[in-house]
Amino acid sequence: MDYANWLSRKDLEYKNNQLYFSNFNVQELTVKYGTPLYITSEKIIRARYNEIDCVLKSVLHDYQIHYAVKANSNLSLLKILESEGSYFDCTSRGEIYSCLRAGIPSKKLLYTGNIFTDEDFKFAIENEVIINLDSLSQLYRVNKIYDSLKNEKKLISFRYNPEFGAGHHVHDITAGKNIKFGILDNQIVEAYQKAKDFDFHRYGIHIHIGSGISNVMKYQKAIEKFFSIIEKISKEVSIEFEFVDFGGGFGIPYHPGEETFNFDLYKELVIAPFKSLIEKGNIGNPQMKVEPGRFLTAESTILTTQINTIKDNGYKRFLGVDAGFNTLIRPMLYGSYHHIIPCYKLEKGEFLKYDIAGPICESGDILGKDREFSELKEGDYLAILDAGAYGFTMSSNYNSRPRAAEILLSKGTSYLIRKAETYDDLFRSQKIPNHLK
Ligand code: LLP
Repeated sequence: MDYANWLSRKDLEYKNNQLYFSNFNVQELTVKYGTPLYITSEKIIRARYNEIDCVLKSVLHDYQIHYAVKANSNLSLLKILESEGSYFDCTSRGEIYSCLRAGIPSKKLLYTGNIFTDEDFKFAIENEVIINLDSLSQLYRVNKIYDSLKNEKKLISFRYNPEFGAGHHVHDITAGKNIKFGILDNQIVEAYQKAKDFDFHRYGIHIHIGSGISNVMKYQKAIEKFFSIIEKISKEVSIEFEFVDFGGGFGIPYHPGEETFNFDLYKELVIAPFKSLIEKGNIGNPQMKVEPGRFLTAESTILTTQINTIKDNGYKRFLGVDAGFNTLIRPMLYGSYHHIIPCYKLEKGEFLKYDIAGPICESGDILGKDREFSELKEGDYLAILDAGAYGFTMSSNYNSRPRAAEILLSKGTSYLIRKAETYDDLFRSQKIPNHLK
């Protein structure tokens, strides 16, 4: 994909050297709301949802898209996705609360945690949220909780670890023998047998092999193994599946010119074989679920920041900005690339290389290395792209910095959807013991 198309997919363009995002002049927004600032385009979220919806619709009748709330849990984004017909995947009670607070009914939620407490289970069971269990021992605990609450045992699902994982970074590969997630072959049949013995009578099954997958071929082995275990469980335990959940992981084009996720190949390797598996008639007539997070929200948001310090130490040039790894930790944590562009582009004079440095007191607080710009000066603004997934949700108050504001662009109007934190917010929940007062 050429650079202009790559930018326009993200609804970005330059007009008279000024950067526009969803038809808004980015610098004007940034001056109005202050920096750092997460700016989200409603249009892009809707477009990405429809992209996935069209792919699934072209092969299957029965499917649900569960947005992975961990990517971005802002209530307005949850509401946008719900209005498109989305379901949701939550990884914590807090994420379930977020969905309920956004007015999403609990029947649209899945709870795919990992290390659950009994309180987590109790909360999910009381709210009738479907749970993807992560271990055999959790089944025993959940069973006890159902018995003590005297709730009817209905649907239960387990996360299977197919041992073939993939992802943009080793921290985000979630299948394999040494990985903490899911149940391996040695216990998965037993898990369903036990669930049946305990009187659960509706079943789902789940995998999620990793995050930020750009090579679709990486799904192949995991899917083959997944399908054979589904058949094995159906046969040996004599059960049918109500849903098969393929997790998320669809990558996005972070690098200029990078191609988008190859859904044609995904159809060929995952969706069509799933349809054939159902047609064989041995596993019931399960619904397909997917759990995209990044794909739905990453490209919807730019993070704007102001340059306050330009420094040339004789060896290296630094652009010092007011967003750091407290605002976007992905470059520091995973070495991830986020493209960074100026809000006003002169493109005159010499291009120089800079590291974009945040204000955090660690040398690792670099948002981009060796990026080329011409004619930048202190006071100018930059936009960091693709910050809508795992941006705000992974932000922190490190170095006692209040979290940044979020705004939403919708049909020509900008809305503040989260106020920037104040310094008072940093102290709100602290208490000083009497002897120190
Ligand atoms: N489903 C489950 C069970 C997951 O654990 C995840 C992500 C997803 C769905 C959504 O994956 P996605 O479609 O967004 O790739 N902080 C990392 C990503 C961590 C993902 C964790 N699980 C990052 O910034 O790249």
